[in-house]
Amino acid sequence: MTDVADRATTGFRREFGAPPAGQWAAPGRVNLIGEHTDYNDGFVLPFALPLRTVAAADRQEGARWTVWSELSGETIDFGADEVDEPGRVAGWGAYVAGVVWALREAGHDVPGARLAITSDVPLGAGLSSSAALEAAVLTALVDLGGLDLPAERQPRLAQRAENHYVGAPTGIMDQSASIRCRDGHALFLDCRSEGVEHIPFDLRGAGLAMLVVDSHAPHRHADGEYAARRKSCEAGAERLGVPALRDVTVDQLDTALARLDDPETRRRVRHVVTEDQRVLDTVALLRAGRVREIGPLLTASHVSMRDDFEITVPEIDTAVEAALAAGALGARMTGGGFGGCVLALVEADAADPVADAVTAAYAEQGFRAPDHLTVLPAPGAVRLT
Ligand code: GLA
Repeated sequence: MTDVADRATTGFRREFGAPPAGQWAAPGRVNLIGEHTDYNDGFVLPFALPLRTVAAADRQEGARWTVWSELSGETIDFGADEVDEPGRVAGWGAYVAGVVWALREAGHDVPGARLAITSDVPLGAGLSSSAALEAAVLTALVDLGGLDLPAERQPRLAQRAENHYVGAPTGIMDQSASIRCRDGHALFLDCRSEGVEHIPFDLRGAGLAMLVVDSHAPHRHADGEYAARRKSCEAGAERLGVPALRDVTVDQLDTALARLDDPETRRRVRHVVTEDQRVLDTVALLRAGRVREIGPLLTASHVSMRDDFEITVPEIDTAVEAALAAGALGARMTGGGFGGCVLALVEADAADPVADAVTAAYAEQGFRAPDHLTVLPAPGAVRLT
């Protein structure tokens, strides 16, 4: 298969009979640690993947957007009327129309455009293919129109597209990762202030590798469960009289838990508060160059997601257990949960044996065989040409 950027240009020429004015690429992400903390105003530490979505694009007359997607094989076309009424453009097109909507709503003079979209980010694997699509389209439109929207303000806008146009109540992590990550670094994001620090994450230098296992577990009720977790967290914060769970520290946790009568809310709160602390501890170790010591924090995060936040599934737990038994230094589910991918931090020469161990454990359980790849932190959204 040819390169994702070449395919976007070829598709653009074929669909629109001319070369594009440029190409904009935005990556998928994995989250190293800090799960379900973003919408609690907390901390996250994602890094960008070398898998990207590309938008080849050019301006067109008027307020019209014509978009070809390689994956669906269709070309859709919509104007300002459809955009201004959330729900009129559905399916994958909603992510594109949502970005146009959010820009217009924020008062930007969005240029009409033709776009050809290709992607290497697998769909439904929890690697943020939707944020990659939003970020590729957003950066293309911002550049084509010369809009005054610096990178640090773009994630919030892409998140609005997803929350209000697509209708998914997600936090700000995925869009921030796709837009703001740097090559060779993890992105330490304070989701309240939106301040970032780029933390060097030199796996190779530490003699390590990051294995990403796609569990292929079907996303069972993922949307409803995500929204339910968000509600529980908000209820917990309200009961504790704080603006968000970010405002409870681990030192205050026992006192806070004693004030909650509902055992389920207690578990949800405990996950978020301890997970924020694990992000801070991971950042401290990485800043000190102690990369291999983060393993136990990753595994503790998984246990917390499994037992307290209750967002893992058998395929995911099997992958984590098999990776750890085969010598991984740490392993955890990454992303929203109920399927998706597992990260395993391994010695550089252990990626294949650990992946084989996971595959063998899947066969034993009768699960569909997993896929895997090893990754290094890649750059965030960029203009390619
Ligand atoms: C999904 C959402 C993010 C975040 C994660 C869980 O990826 O899009 O905003 O909440 O789940 O950490």
